[in-house]
This record gives sequence, structure tokens and C-alpha cells, in this order.
Amino acid sequence: MNKELLQRLNEQIALEIESAHIYLEMAGYFNEEGLDGMGNWMYYQHLEEMNHAMKIWHHLDERGERPKMLGINKPMDEFESVMDVWEKALEHEKFITKQFDEMMKIAMDNQEYKSFTMLQWFVDEQVEEEDTFGGIVDKLRWSDCAKPAVMQMNAAMATRGYSPLPDGLIPTGEEE
Ligand SMILES: [Fe+2]
Ligand SMILES: [Fe+2]
Repeated sequence: MNKELLQRLNEQIALEIESAHIYLEMAGYFNEEGLDGMGNWMYYQHLEEMNHAMKIWHHLDERGERPKMLGINKPMDEFESVMDVWEKALEHEKFITKQFDEMMKIAMDNQEYKSFTMLQWFVDEQVEEEDTFGGIVDKLRWSDCAKPAVMQMNAAMATRGYSPLPDGLIPTGEEE
């Protein structure tokens, strides 16, 4: 595999785990604030990000590369308000999108066709992530973070559960 792409994919494994840690910090913040629904949502978001890391891990493994576990940055853990948490989460997702846009360019420039489908999956996933986080930030802005609106969002987020991914934390064995 192209060395630059390999390096970026290894770095992305660490970034996805860092994302998981950020969302776990956010889950803890919400739970402490008594917003257990938002805490639940962020807890499952953390699992989803761990799945993303494993999806890249499995891809490198399949391509005959040895995935490297790089250091994980300490996650952000200072939040001023409910709004601040969601705005920081949206900003973080936009940063992640930029990483995949750059990796897609590296893959295209170096004819790394075998990584296209995997990278395209993440590009599509990032469209979804920005839409989801952006929608939550919009709702909070529109309601001016009024307590009844926040409580209603909190209740809706209490229902989020675990949805496993192909190539995620729990290998499905589909490709065998
Ligand atoms: Fe992710
Ligand atoms: Fe994400």
C-alpha cells in the first residue's frame, strides 16, 4: 500500500479512538448534569467511533498491512454548557471529515483503488455525522436551549442503542 496512505490510515485509527474518548467524556458530562438521555446517546456514539477504528484496522489487516497502534491524544474534557458540548462535537466531526477528504485524494492520486470503497464508506458516514450533529446544534439554537426543549431532546436520545457494523468491533465473518 502507498506509504502515505498507510500512515494516514494508522493515524486515523488513533483519531477514531480519540473521537470515542471525546464522546465518552461528553457522556460523563451529560450524566453528571442529570441529562442521562444525552449521556446514553454519547455513550453509544463512543461505541460507534470504536467501530470506525476497527473498520480501518480490519481493512489494513485484509490488505496485508500490519495496523499500528499510535498514541491517543488526551480528549477535550472542559465544557461550559450543553450547547458547548454539541458545538464542540460538530466541530470535531468536521475535522474528521477533512481527514477523509485528504485520504481520498491521496488514494486517488496513487491509484489505491482497493481502499476506495472503504474510504467512500467513511466519506458517506461523515455526511451523516455532520447532518446528525448539525441537526442537534440547530435544534438547540432555535430553542435557545430552553429547558423544555432540552428535556425533550434528552428523552428522545435515551432510546439510542447499539448497532453493530460490518468490519466493526465484533467481526461478522461476512468476507470469509
Ligand atoms: Fe468516526
Ligand atoms: Fe464520528
